[in-house]
Amino acid sequence: MIIIIGNQKGGAGKSTLTLLLANYLTMVKKRKVTVIDMDYQQSISQKYEKAKVLENEEPYEVVAAGLDDFPGMAELVKAEKESLVLIDLPGKLDDDGLLPVFRSAELAICPFAYDEFSFESTVLFSVVLKKVSPDCRLLFVPNRVKANVRYETRSDVDEQLAKFGTVVDSIPDRIDFQRTSTFQTPLSVFPAVRPVFDAIYKQYLKLKPNE
Ligand SMILES: Nc1ncnc2c1ncn2[C@@H]1O[C@H](COP(=O)(O)OP(=O)(O)OP(=O)(O)O)[C@@H](O)[C@H]1O
Ligand SMILES: [Mg+2]
Repeated sequence: MIIIIGNQKGGAGKSTLTLLLANYLTMVKKRKVTVIDMDYQQSISQKYEKAKVLENEEPYEVVAAGLDDFPGMAELVKAEKESLVLIDLPGKLDDDGLLPVFRSAELAICPFAYDEFSFESTVLFSVVLKKVSPDCRLLFVPNRVKANVRYETRSDVDEQLAKFGTVVDSIPDRIDFQRTSTFQTPLSVFPAVRPVFDAIYKQYLKLKPNE
């Protein structure tokens, strides 16, 4: 199954969420995971190369891939029915090479923030995805939500996004998220993301009914 993590907005938390989800799926759910890094900055692959030097055994593979590499890669990936492929998308949807990536996805996870600059980019991502791949399920993850801030537009934003997909529970804004790396979720971060991932897993990713 191919899962894309995307938003047209830079810095929304795509790469961070990709890593946190990969760590969760391998460590908690013991699933086979491959991460495809399509972020222009290849931030995950760089972290991965560093982590590999320190770890003996990698729980999942990270492949840095250009858009041209994707169609061939997708064929291989689809043959492995039970494995989960997470694709960290770039923060710009300006390349036709992304179309096959969108088309291949069964699930899209879109982190976004409740600030005035994020909404349009989040909607743009959703419109493009739904146009290219109408059957792809779309989950919105409110990210960097501050406990002491009242977001005036929150219910309006949720209502608009619900036209494209499902808004799931939010992830708090916390400095320790910035220490997330391949294979390692800071222990303090784990309780903040676990309920969100448990819910997504249960509804969309589990293999057995009681998993
Ligand atoms: N919940 C959070 N709390 C605090 N910091 C966060 C949180 N989520 C992400 N960040 C931080 O925000 C910054 C941007 O996150 P990230 O690189 O994951 O975004 P991105 O969407 O991949 O960006 P780009 O579009 O540049 O690829 C990083 O420094 C990351 O550590
Ligand atoms: Mg990124």
